[in-house]
Amino acid sequence: MSDAALGPALEPKLGLEATLHEFLHKDAFSWLSAAEERSIHAVVTDPPYGLVEYTPDQLEKRKSGRGGVWRIPPSFDGRQRQPVPRFTVLKDDEKDEIRTFFARFAKLLYPVLVPGAHVFVASNPLLSHLVSDSFAAMGFEIRGTLVRVVHTLRGGDRPKNAHDEFPNVTVMPKSCFEPWGIFRRPCEGTVRENLREWATGGLRRLSEREPFKDLIEASPARKREREAAPHPSLKPQAFLRPLVRSSLPLGKGVVLDPFAGSGSTLAAATACGIRSIGLEHNAEYYEMGRAAIPVLAKLAV
Ligand SMILES: C[S@@+](CC[C@H](N)C(=O)[O-])C[C@H]1O[C@@H](n2cnc3c(N)ncnc32)[C@H](O)[C@@H]1O
Repeated sequence: MSDAALGPALEPKLGLEATLHEFLHKDAFSWLSAAEERSIHAVVTDPPYGLVEYTPDQLEKRKSGRGGVWRIPPSFDGRQRQPVPRFTVLKDDEKDEIRTFFARFAKLLYPVLVPGAHVFVASNPLLSHLVSDSFAAMGFEIRGTLVRVVHTLRGGDRPKNAHDEFPNVTVMPKSCFEPWGIFRRPCEGTVRENLREWATGGLRRLSEREPFKDLIEASPARKREREAAPHPSLKPQAFLRPLVRSSLPLGKGVVLDPFAGSGSTLAAATACGIRSIGLEHNAEYYEMGRAAIPVLAKLAV
C-alpha cells in the first residue's frame, strides 16, 4: 500500500467544513448522559483542570488580574504575557475534586465509545496521575503517554525571596513538555476482529514505514491561530492535526471533544477530512469557536 493510501492528509480539504463538524453549546456531562451508546470512535480533549480555572469566579479573577489560579508569568524580555493557570496552588480537597471530575467523565464516556476507541486527554506533569487513576478505575486501559514538547513558562523559578541567597537553586523543573494520557476502551476480541467490526483498536501510522510516535514537538499556537481563536488554552493545529488523524486507525468514525473551547480539535479534524463533534458550555467560548473553526481548519500548518 502506498503512503498516500494510508489516509487523510494534514492539510485542509476546502469546502468540507460545513458537513464534517457539529459544534454544540452543551454541557459535556448532560450530553454524554443522553448520547447513543457505541457511537463515538475516538476522543481528543483538553479538559478544564480541577474545574477551578474555568469557574466564573476564577475567570473573573483572571480578568481582574488578582488572586486565583491564573498568574502572569514573569516578563524576562519586556513582552506582556497572558496569564496561565498555576496548579501548584491546588490543595488536597481540590485534587479530590479533580479525581471525582475525571471518574465521572470516564464513567459517562465509556458506554458512548465503541470497543477499542482511543481517548487522548491533555494534562500536566503535576496532575496526570490523577487522570490516569480515574480512567483506569472506570475500566479503561492505560496505553501510554503522548509527550508534546513545548517550552512553557511554568517552573524553573529560584526560591521566593531568596534569589540572592540561593542563586543556583531552582524550586521546580522548568516545564518543557505537556503529557497527554492515552486510554482505550478494551477491544472486543483481538485487535484484528475489533478493527474489522468497529474500525478501532489501533492508531493510524504516520506512513506505511513509520508508526505513530508518542512524542510530538509543537510550539504554542501561532499568532494567526490566536487571532482567530483567542481562547486562553488554545492548542495549536500543528499538534492537533497529527493527533486527531492518528486517533482513527482506518480514518473512519467520529472524533469527540467534550471540552472543545474554541473548537481547535474540530478544526483539526475538519482539516484532515474527519467527522467530529464538540461540546462547550461557556457561551463566550462557544461563539468564539463557531467563528474560529472554519478559519483554523483552512490554515496551512
Ligand atoms: C482547557 S479548555 C479547552 C480549550 C481548547 N483546547 C482550545 O484549543 O480552544 C477547556 C474548555 O472546557 C470548557 N468546559 C468546562 N466544563 C465544561 C463542561 N462541563 N461541558 C462543556 N464544556 C466545559 C471550558 O469552558 C473551556 O473552554
